[in-house]
Parts: sequence; C-alpha cells; structure tokens
Amino acid sequence: MTRRPMVVGNWKMNKTNSEATKLIQQLSFSYENVYAAVDVVICPPYTALRSAQVVLRFDSKSNILIGAQDVFWESSGAYTGAISADMLKDLDCAYCIIGHSERREYFHETDEDVARKASALLGNKIAPIICCGESLAARENNETLPLVTAQIRAALAHISASEAESVVLAYEPIWAIGTGRTPTPEQADEVCAALRDTFRELYGPAAADALRVLYGGSMNPGNVDAFKEMPNIDGGLVGGASLVAEDFLTLAKAFS
Ligand code: PGA
Repeated sequence: MTRRPMVVGNWKMNKTNSEATKLIQQLSFSYENVYAAVDVVICPPYTALRSAQVVLRFDSKSNILIGAQDVFWESSGAYTGAISADMLKDLDCAYCIIGHSERREYFHETDEDVARKASALLGNKIAPIICCGESLAARENNETLPLVTAQIRAALAHISASEAESVVLAYEPIWAIGTGRTPTPEQADEVCAALRDTFRELYGPAAADALRVLYGGSMNPGNVDAFKEMPNIDGGLVGGASLVAEDFLTLAKAFS
C-alpha cells in the first residue's frame, strides 16, 4: 500500500492576518504545483483562514490545502469565543488539528473533548489530524506506547469505520516540541507503528494500511530525511519550521 505523504504546517499563535497573507502568497506563488505527490496543508490561526481561502482558491494555482488548529464540538449557539466545524468548512478547511499537547496543557482538554471534536469534524467532512504524545517522564518510565495508544483509542471512541478512512494521526512527543530535541527516527517509527496497530485492531487491516501517521516535534530541513525513510512515518506535523516559506517547502519536497 502506498500512502500519499503529507506535510502539515501548524502555525500556532503566530502571524497577524497581514503577515500570514504574505507567507501564504510566498508559499503558493513561488512553488505552484510542484508538489503533486504530497498533500501540503497549512494551519494558520483562525484570524487568517479567510485570507488563506482567498489566496489559495482565487489567486493561485497551487494545491496547498487549508487546515485549522482546533474546533469546538457544538455546531452553533452561546459558546463565546468558540468556532464550529461548519464555520471551518465554509472557509475551505479540509483538515483540523485536534488534541495537540498545547491544547491539552493550557486549555485543559481531555481525551473526551478530543473525541467530541473528532465527531464534529467528520460530521462536516473535515478530516481530523488527531495528536498524541508523551512527556519526558512518561518516556523515561517506558509508558509511551500504552499512553499514546490510549489517547488515540479514546479519540476514536465514536468514529465509525467509514469515517475512520479520513482520519490522520500525529505522534508528537511533548519533549520534542519546539525544543530542538527529537527521538531517533527508529523510536518515532516504533510509536507510529503502534498507532497503526491500534487502528488495525479497531478498523481492520485495509484501514490500517491506508492510515497516514505523521511525526511532529522539531522536524526541520536538517533532520527530515532520516524521518522520511521510516516505514510507518507518512509525513510531518511541523511547527517552527512551517513559519519560514523555504524551510517548509523543503520539508514538503523531502516527502514528495
Ligand atoms: P515544532 O512543533 O515543529 O515547533 O516542534 C510541532 C508541533 O507542535 O506541531
């Protein structure tokens, strides 16, 4: 089974709308359609999603896709500050990151919240990129595999086999995010393989073979080649290196 590789830029809380527009233009105009063999997704802050839509849909011929960084599970109503899946759909979001460790840490998101968000997204035909990852203490105690597979099982609690076809998983060790430290490619691959095994148990062998699993955590142009060689790593979820057009496109090129 050959899986289409994928590189996702998680911009986090960076770039004003004007700055974001400039970066999206750089990404789309300088490198039109050279990435036929890889899904390139950018996830700017909510405030720049409309600009992303305008640039990518109307002004450029690039095949860059749009994602959001989070979503709320309700579809509308009195939820001050929240954004729903159909609002994202209206802005051409094809993907949405959920369960990022920064959401879990600073916004106290639980596995149950992540499961609700996954359902809300799939109900609106947006593919969730479901994140999991362990702390350094958990890794040192050999708890990584049980911990991340439990996170993913919980997130998939309400997801049917047909919905699971569009799910993407991302393994992001918390201690590697923004630190410049990474696991070895073999260590990352071991976890990605365990996530694929979990998917196999839940949805069968064909679903597991088709599942895309990304690695995230200090991925950059200097280390991408080692990760991309790994059999269970289908791409990257990239933070810091996605904020510089040239670096991000180098990563996309590496996987394409
Ligand atoms: P990083 O972030 O590439 O800056 O380590 C990755 C992420 O948190 O998605």
